[in-house]
Amino acid sequence: MKYDVVIVGSGPGGYVAAIKAAQQGAKVAIVEKESIGGVCLNWGCIPTKALLKSAKVYKTFMHSEDYGITIADKSKIKVNFSDVIKRKDSVVSKLTGGVKVLLNKNGVEVFNGLGTIVDKNTVKVNNETLTTKNIIIATGASPVIPPIPGVKESMEKGIILTSKEILSLKDIPNELVIIGGGVIGIEFATVFSTFGTKVTILERMDRILVNVDNDIRNDYLKILKKNNINILTEANVVGVENNEVTYEYQHKKAKVKADKILMSVGMRPNTNGFENLGINITRTGIEVNDKMQTNIPNVYAIGDVTGKIMLAHVASAQGLVAANNIVGKEEKMQYSRIPACIYGMPEIAMVGMTEEEVKAKNIEYKVGKFSIAANGKSLADGETEGFIKVIADKKYGELLGVHILAANATELISQSVTTMELEGTVFEIANSVHPHPTLSEIVMEAAHSVIDRPIHALK
Ligand code: NAI
Repeated sequence: MKYDVVIVGSGPGGYVAAIKAAQQGAKVAIVEKESIGGVCLNWGCIPTKALLKSAKVYKTFMHSEDYGITIADKSKIKVNFSDVIKRKDSVVSKLTGGVKVLLNKNGVEVFNGLGTIVDKNTVKVNNETLTTKNIIIATGASPVIPPIPGVKESMEKGIILTSKEILSLKDIPNELVIIGGGVIGIEFATVFSTFGTKVTILERMDRILVNVDNDIRNDYLKILKKNNINILTEANVVGVENNEVTYEYQHKKAKVKADKILMSVGMRPNTNGFENLGINITRTGIEVNDKMQTNIPNVYAIGDVTGKIMLAHVASAQGLVAANNIVGKEEKMQYSRIPACIYGMPEIAMVGMTEEEVKAKNIEYKVGKFSIAANGKSLADGETEGFIKVIADKKYGELLGVHILAANATELISQSVTTMELEGTVFEIANSVHPHPTLSEIVMEAAHSVIDRPIHALK
């Protein structure tokens, strides 16, 4: 065998597994048919954050007087969208360039081309045959395109876009309809509504962001509304004709027109081509055990293709587990303390159970909340929307769930992840001296709120 492991797909699952295995002396090859970094680095997590930053800068300029800065003629403030896109592209190329260097310096051989798994020890790419002791499938997922009449045609005309094509728009659309009120829909709604686009979200379920704690969602909905994002729930799209979407809403048919339509109704694992390998594949993805092995022990699968939790950091964590098992260190993946983040303005970050989930499990619990507006640093920053909610077990105060709606919420959640990893309680958080003034103090205040009362809040 030429390689210890051949990895198919170089997203945050694949490239992390490659580096980890190589760091431990394995001979590694990685096969990529598009760009190193996969969806996350090229068309997902990173480019959207670059666009959001441009949107934030624009918003700050438009509200400069809130900070005592006068701009004589605001009509002269323009979003140069092609430069926004250029900046996004340069952020992406810096990061993917960095990953290429890491792969290279760790001795990972990179093959550009479509990888075909011939059997459990053979991968073909272009005209080369790679023989290997182990394989890791890390081929990710692709946007779901529902079989709604007219969707295919409007996609061909470039009116309906997925989260990939929307990243290369030439102009800011005047009107954007977003089908699907999930994480992708919310991110793009935030970017484009900040740039002045009239945004309508059509969500089939009775609520957007289904996995978010109800209290957080309810507050967030008010903020989205204030930012002129129109959200229709229980709106079932039944047809599209060019740039007009027909949907059923409250038992009636209605239509909405837009320059562009974003299709963001979920992702489907990229399992095509693996059907004859003998691995178990279900509708939700490739079946794996806690060590990330498929039913063929030397064939592993990680990331979105497993359909477990479709998040980049889960893929990376699974990649580490797979790589470590391959080099002989027994390790298992755990899914109970996975943080999730939603990048709007403000952001949402959460870990552990929602209050609804805790109730459903009949766990006795206590809740502590703290308003962002009561935090000094947030006041100084002029970003006071939102709150934190800490859910703790009633008897011992063990952390069960933390939910944050705040600017920079996504930067705050890791503290709670670590606390949960250590099976820590609200007492440890409350007793840990937090630096002042920081937004992180809200976690301490909410912990105090579970125990008795925080200093900076009235009953
Ligand atoms: P999603 O699963 O988060 O949301 C899709 C939404 O579309 C759901 O609310 C669903 O009810 C709705 N829907 C489905 N069919 C519909 C229809 N025909 N009409 C109207 N609504 C419909 O999927 P999304 O936003 O596309 O994201 C895909 C994946 O990417 C997710 O698994 C997500 O976790 C991941 N992702 C994560 C991000 C993050 O963590 N910040 C950012 C972007 C993506």
